[in-house]
Amino acid sequence: MADRQPRGPTGIPVFGSSLDFAADPLGFMEECAREYGDFARIDTLNREVYLLTDPEGIEYVLTENYGNYRKPDLDGEGLDGLLGDGLLTSEGDLWRSQRKRIQPAFFREQLDRYAETMVGDARELAETWSVGDRIEGDSAMSQLTLRIIVETVLGAELGGMEREISEALIDVSGRFRSDDVRSLVPADVPTPRNVKYRRGERRLERVVRDIVRQHERGERTEDGGDMLSLLLRARDAGAVEIDDEQIRDEVLTMLLAGHDTTALTLTYSWYLLSENQEARRRFHAELDAVVGDSDPTVEDVQRLDYTERVVKEAMRLYPPAYTIYREANADDSVTGFHLPEGAIVSMPQWVVHRDPRWWDDPDGFRPERWSDEARDDASRPDYAYYPFGGGPRRCIGEEFATREAKFVLATIGRRFELEYAGRDEPELIPMVTLHPEPPVEFDVKAR
Ligand code: HEM
Repeated sequence: MADRQPRGPTGIPVFGSSLDFAADPLGFMEECAREYGDFARIDTLNREVYLLTDPEGIEYVLTENYGNYRKPDLDGEGLDGLLGDGLLTSEGDLWRSQRKRIQPAFFREQLDRYAETMVGDARELAETWSVGDRIEGDSAMSQLTLRIIVETVLGAELGGMEREISEALIDVSGRFRSDDVRSLVPADVPTPRNVKYRRGERRLERVVRDIVRQHERGERTEDGGDMLSLLLRARDAGAVEIDDEQIRDEVLTMLLAGHDTTALTLTYSWYLLSENQEARRRFHAELDAVVGDSDPTVEDVQRLDYTERVVKEAMRLYPPAYTIYREANADDSVTGFHLPEGAIVSMPQWVVHRDPRWWDDPDGFRPERWSDEARDDASRPDYAYYPFGGGPRRCIGEEFATREAKFVLATIGRRFELEYAGRDEPELIPMVTLHPEPPVEFDVKAR
């Protein structure tokens, strides 16, 4: 049977739909899916993009026929320009051997060892707050998860670098805003935004060098099972593919991929708990019953079922990675549609996670939909929910992030309630990840 022909918006000459996309990226994706169905063709300034919102098609691209797809080659203009050949952006044999090499840093026993740091850092943060304070939730969560990733997976200390890193990240992220056509200007053109980007990149590189130096001077804080120790040992044992450049790329990748997404999940979890009285009550009741008067242990966290449902539901409504991109190596047929070689497929969690075909009350925060009985709903396809992606390139930090989110929610939540201080739902800015704007402020309340 001949492939079906996709439909899509007409756009304007040269730019295609790039300007409409930039005006409101999330709304544009929703509108395209609604108007043109599960496989919409969108012309942009430089590429043909297909918006795929059929869970079976997404599963096909990410898992069944994953070998036909690569991360889009953006000539260094995307994340690849910043992260080089790190695990998130590399391909082929290099990616395969690095994934295998890095995996032990995420084994269960290793995650158990990270628990103390996750709890200790969250406790220290909570100890700086008092009832009546107003805090900036997203920046507090970001600095916390940054500190945790450096002290665990990178086996180093942040020292006084927290502020420097978060400032550098703001400078770097600005370049990846999807809601601004200036992001289309190549990175080498010295616009004010690109100058900031380069400045941020240089600062991050200084931070990476400092982290590696801590290991080389024998000052590292971990037990040798962290990712950076594994890589440095392999380099020193003569592994040819691991040179200083490769180490820079992997450390920078973990620094970015390993904190921002979890910080956002935490921020949205606090926000949603604050806005939903019954969920907030059940969350605190679970902490009282399971964790009690001391900080959570590894065993406690395994029993925090309701808290885990809160985290899952927060990632459904506000998926930090709001879309996944792939580029087709060769022509393919996806759910009966022709996908040409070189085209980009965009698979937006933002749209699929709120699709009324799969979710009752799709915009409602209902952690109980993840209860054992509800989860067994066989009519919902697996890829109606994929906050961590899928297939061989699925997030390596999934278990790390889920545990970390539960540890942090429990450690802070047993001391305080956080009440959203804004009036409206935060505006969402799609950068590499989905960021709230303006900052999400909370009032610290007594339990
Ligand atoms: C809630 C938190 C997180 C979310 C929502 C998330 C989401 C994702 C997604 C969607 C992908 C797949 C990207 C693609 O297929 O193109 C991915 C990959 C990746 N994530 Fe995460 N992530 C989270 C936490 C973490 C953490 C904590 C780490 C590290 C400690 C991490 C490290 C990575 C890496 C290295 C990859 C690339 C894996 C590969 O290609 O082999 N992520 N993540």
